[in-house]
Amino acid sequence: MKDFKGKVAVITGGANGIGFAIAEECAKREIKIVIADINELDLKKAEEKLKAQGAEVLALQTDVIKYEDMERLADKTLERFGHVDLLFNNAGVVVAGPAWSLSLRDWEWIMKVNVWGIIHGEKAFIPIMLKQDTECHIINTASAAGLLSLDGMSAYHTSKFAAVALSESTYLDLQCVTDKIKMSVFCPGFIQTDLNNCERHRPKDYDNDMEDEYYHSDSYKAKEEQKHKVIQNGIPVDMVGATIFEAIEEEKFYILTHPEINPLIGLRTRNILEGGNPSIKDIVGVK
Ligand SMILES: NC(=O)c1ccc[n+]([C@@H]2O[C@H](COP(=O)([O-])OP(=O)(O)OC[C@H]3O[C@@H](n4cnc5c(N)ncnc54)[C@H](O)[C@@H]3O)[C@@H](O)[C@H]2O)c1
Repeated sequence: MKDFKGKVAVITGGANGIGFAIAEECAKREIKIVIADINELDLKKAEEKLKAQGAEVLALQTDVIKYEDMERLADKTLERFGHVDLLFNNAGVVVAGPAWSLSLRDWEWIMKVNVWGIIHGEKAFIPIMLKQDTECHIINTASAAGLLSLDGMSAYHTSKFAAVALSESTYLDLQCVTDKIKMSVFCPGFIQTDLNNCERHRPKDYDNDMEDEYYHSDSYKAKEEQKHKVIQNGIPVDMVGATIFEAIEEEKFYILTHPEINPLIGLRTRNILEGGNPSIKDIVGVK
C-alpha cells in the first residue's frame, strides 16, 4: 500500500505509546483513525490530541481479551467509515519473572492480551477484509522478545514467540487465498513508552494475589526495577510510526528497530542449527 489518504486504520492499544505513535503517523497521512483501548481516560485524551491534529477519529473503549469487544469494534468501524484498510493488533502488557514464580493469573493475563488479543483482531477483521476484496495491511506488534529469549521474562517471551508464529502463519495462509491482504510483524527492541506501568491496565478478573510471597521478594523487585530501566533507556517512541509505514509501503514482513540486537537473533538460530544450547545473557539495555 502506498496511497494512504482516506484509508481507515484500526489500532488496538492506541491510547498510549507505540499505538498512539502509529495513530499520529496515520493523522499525518490523512488516514481515518479508530483507536481502541481498555483505558477510557487515556483514550479520551488521545482522541482529543488526534482531533487537534486534524484527524478524523473514532475512539472506542475495547478490551482485546473479550471477543465481543473486538466484534463491536469491527461493527462500529464499518458503521462509521464503511470499510477498514489497516489493522494494528498492538495492545500488550508485560510481567517479569521465571515461569514457576509468576501466578497463573499473570500467565493468563499476558497470554490473553498479547496472544488472544491478536487472535481476536484477526478473527474479527480478516473476514471483513476478504469480503471487501480491497488492498489491506495487517500489522501485529510482537517484539524482539519474540525472536530471542533472555532470563526473567518467561511469560512475555512465550506470548511474543506466539505472536510471531501467529503472524507468520497468517501471512502464509493469506497468500493461499488472496494477494490483496498484506501482513507485517513489528518486532522492536526497547522503546520509551508506559509499558513498565501496564499494571494499571490489568482487568479485575486477572487481579493477582499480592499476598503471594513472590511479589514481596527481592527477585521480583529487581525484575521490576530492570523493566523500568530498560524501557526508559529505549529509543524515543516518535521514531516508530515512520519505520512502520515505510515497511507497509515496501510490503516488508519483519519490522525490526534495533540493529544491535540482530547478531543475537543470529546467535540463537546458530545455536539451534549447530546443536548449541540457549546462551544469550547480555543484551543492550538489559544488564
Ligand atoms: N515499549 C517497548 O519497549 C516494547 C518493545 C517491544 C514490544 N512492545 C510491544 O508494543 C505494544 C505496545 O506497548 P507500548 O510499549 O506502547 O506500551 P503502553 O503501555 O505505552 O501502551 C499499551 C496500550 O495497550 C493498552 N492495553 C493494555 N491492555 C489492553 C487490553 N486488554 N485491551 C485493549 N488495550 C489494552 C493500554 O491501555 C495502553 O494504552 C505491546 O504489544 C508491547 O508488548 C513494546
